Amino acid sequence: MGPDALMQVLHQLPHVKDKDLLVGIETADDAGVYRISDGLAIISTLDFFPPLVDDPFTFGAIAAANSLSDVYAMGGTPRLAMNIVCFPKDLSLDVLNEIIRGSMEKLKEAETLLVGGHSIEDAEIKYGLSVTGFVNPADIKTNRGAKAGDALILTKPIGTGIIASALKAGRIKPNDAADTIAGMTSLNRAASVAMVEAGANACTDVTGFGLLGHAMEMAKGSDVGLVIHASNIRLYPFAYELVRKKANRPRTLLANREFLIKDMDIRITDNDLELLLFDPQTSGGLLISIPEEGSALLTEKLKGTGIDATVIGSVVKKEEGWRIRVE
Ligand code: CO
Ligand code: CO
Ligand code: CO
Repeated sequence: MGPDALMQVLHQLPHVKDKDLLVGIETADDAGVYRISDGLAIISTLDFFPPLVDDPFTFGAIAAANSLSDVYAMGGTPRLAMNIVCFPKDLSLDVLNEIIRGSMEKLKEAETLLVGGHSIEDAEIKYGLSVTGFVNPADIKTNRGAKAGDALILTKPIGTGIIASALKAGRIKPNDAADTIAGMTSLNRAASVAMVEAGANACTDVTGFGLLGHAMEMAKGSDVGLVIHASNIRLYPFAYELVRKKANRPRTLLANREFLIKDMDIRITDNDLELLLFDPQTSGGLLISIPEEGSALLTEKLKGTGIDATVIGSVVKKEEGWRIRVE
C-alpha cells in the first residue's frame, strides 16, 4: 500500500499501551519490541510480497533477507521464523519447495530456525516470513534518537525497484541485475552488529518507502532535519540509465515522491537522480545515524566485513519549511 493510505488506517486505530511495550506502531518503526525482563526484549515483525525475480530459489532468499532485516534494523538478533505462503493451486509444488529452500539458506546463515507457518491458495504467489528476535533493551535502535551533528551512513546501494520492474518487463537481462540480486540477498546482519557496537543513535532499513521515505520517518521520529548529499549515494548498475526512461518507473516510486515532496528541499538539478531517491527498495541497506566522530570508524569496520557503506549526509537542527534537504 502507498504511504498515504496506510497512514490513514493506522491513525484511526486506538493507541495500544503497556509498560513493557517498548516500540509499538506509532513511530513507523520496523517492528514491535516487548520487554520480557530488564536485560531482554523480543522483537516481532513480518513481511511478504509477490515474486520480483523469476527464479524461485532466489526469490525465497530475497524474501528471507528482507524479513530478517527489520530485526537487524532495530539492533536485534533474529531467532525464530514462520512462513507466510500464498500459492496458486495449479502451480507445481516444486516452485514452492524452491522458494522455501532459498529462504532456509538465508535463515541458516542468520542462525534463525524455521518453526512453522501458514499457507493459503491464492491467484498469485506471495511469500514472506514472520520473524521473532531478541535484543537487550539498552541496544534497541529506532527512528527516534538521531541528533544534530550526526553523520548518516547507508550500507547498500539503491535502485532495486527500478531494476526489478525492468527485469520483469524484459528490459534488462538477468545478468545485468546480478549485482542488484546479490545486494538484495545479502543480510544486514554484519551492519547491524557493527552499528550497535559503534554506538549508533538511530537506525532503520530502507524498503518500500524508498531512501527518502525512510529518512523522513527518521527525521520526524527524531524531530530533526536531514541533509543528504545525493552524489555520495551508491546506485546499483543500470538503475540510473533505466530511471531516465519513464516506462521503468514503478508506480510506487511516484507515489512515494508525491507523499514526501512537501517536506523536501531539493537542490540538485538532476531530475533522474532525484527520482531514484524515492525508488521503493526490497531488502535495502541500513540507514544509520551516528555521532560524527564515530562515523569513519564504522565505515572502516563495515568495509572489513565486505560492506561498502558510505556517509550520505548529516543530521541538522529542524528548520522551517523542510525536513530533508537534498544537495
Ligand atoms: Co523495515
Ligand atoms: Co518490513
Ligand atoms: Co494456520
